[in-house]
Amino acid sequence: MQIYLVGGAVRDKLLGLEVKDHDWVVVGATPDEMLARGFKQVGADFPVFLHPKTNEEYALARTERKEGQGYHGFSVYSAPDVTLEDDLKRRDLTINAMAEDDNGELVDPFNGHEDLENRTLRHVSEAFCEDPLRILRTARFAARLAPKGFTVCPETHALMQRMVSEGELEHLAPERVWQEIQRALHERAPTVFFELLQELGALAPLIPELSAPEPLATGLKALACIDDRAGTTDQRFAALLSALPETAAEQRASAMKAPNNCRDMARLASHFTENLENAGSEGLTAKQIMALLNQADVWRKPERFELLLQTLACTTSQAQRPAIDQLRAAVNAASGVSAKDLMAQGYKGKTLGEAIHRERLTQITQALNH
Ligand code: CTP
Repeated sequence: MQIYLVGGAVRDKLLGLEVKDHDWVVVGATPDEMLARGFKQVGADFPVFLHPKTNEEYALARTERKEGQGYHGFSVYSAPDVTLEDDLKRRDLTINAMAEDDNGELVDPFNGHEDLENRTLRHVSEAFCEDPLRILRTARFAARLAPKGFTVCPETHALMQRMVSEGELEHLAPERVWQEIQRALHERAPTVFFELLQELGALAPLIPELSAPEPLATGLKALACIDDRAGTTDQRFAALLSALPETAAEQRASAMKAPNNCRDMARLASHFTENLENAGSEGLTAKQIMALLNQADVWRKPERFELLLQTLACTTSQAQRPAIDQLRAAVNAASGVSAKDLMAQGYKGKTLGEAIHRERLTQITQALNH
């Protein structure tokens, strides 16, 4: 058997980037031979094995054949006669379809190195269409490598456009789409991901509310602002959806199977953004602030609230900065209110809850007047 380093590791080495994962392809072996060498098989469907010591993935060379629409519509064929080239040919982009043998020699039947030097994202073959998720992957690589000057070549752009117009994206499981979106949000230039998808007509089936020009432009502007900071996934996602009304943001997040923290941050960011923008130049009243703080559950989740405030700095206009500072000052002022002290004064049950509310409101009103 021969073993080759493949995919992202070869690409990233040539780009001078840090290599995180090593994926290997094994040619000329059977599953039994791998097991006999101490490898452990992972997953029943794909012939992938874990190295007994390094735990890195070793896949038997394979080809895939499409039989129906969507991700489930193809079958895997793996046998000792499948060559390295067969295996590389079914991969998505030429820069991901290079291998390195055990002498460190590059094996590059689809000119990935040349495309890498020309800063081009190009599909390897028509087999690209086997998996519509590759549209999102390509957009993600564009988002990662755009700062290095990479662009999608016209042929691949046209192929992806055709796949989108044939409805291929509708067959993707939301969980797989979310995985790509979540990763895209952390790429070097995340806005490139969404801009490219929009150009391809792919945002309409994936995040329909964002496919209108105005909410997209607003969302991308907010996202680009977060980009400069060490933003978390929920902040970035909330920034992206910030131009949507609260209910729309929440429903979209649920439909996308975004995790609860992302859904909640998106809902709150939309709600707060709307309220701050409506507040006008006088800012918020103590009552309005109190209502917002309760909606954000700030008393139980102060760290989440700070994340929300940081997000709002990107989703609102410059004129809203004083209102954001007001919110922060209000929390500081009211967080000193102690249930214990009020209980010592004889409050309990429902009257305790009311007393806490009243006292917090008093503290906030005083803080606003200073
Ligand atoms: N691959 C593919 N089509 C997919 C998923 C993966 O062709 N839908 C191939 C590509 O050759 C890719 C390799 O499998 O390089 C490994 O995939 P993965 O680990 O997901 O991506 P990487 O290229 O390593 O990229 P990243 O840096 O984002 O992990």
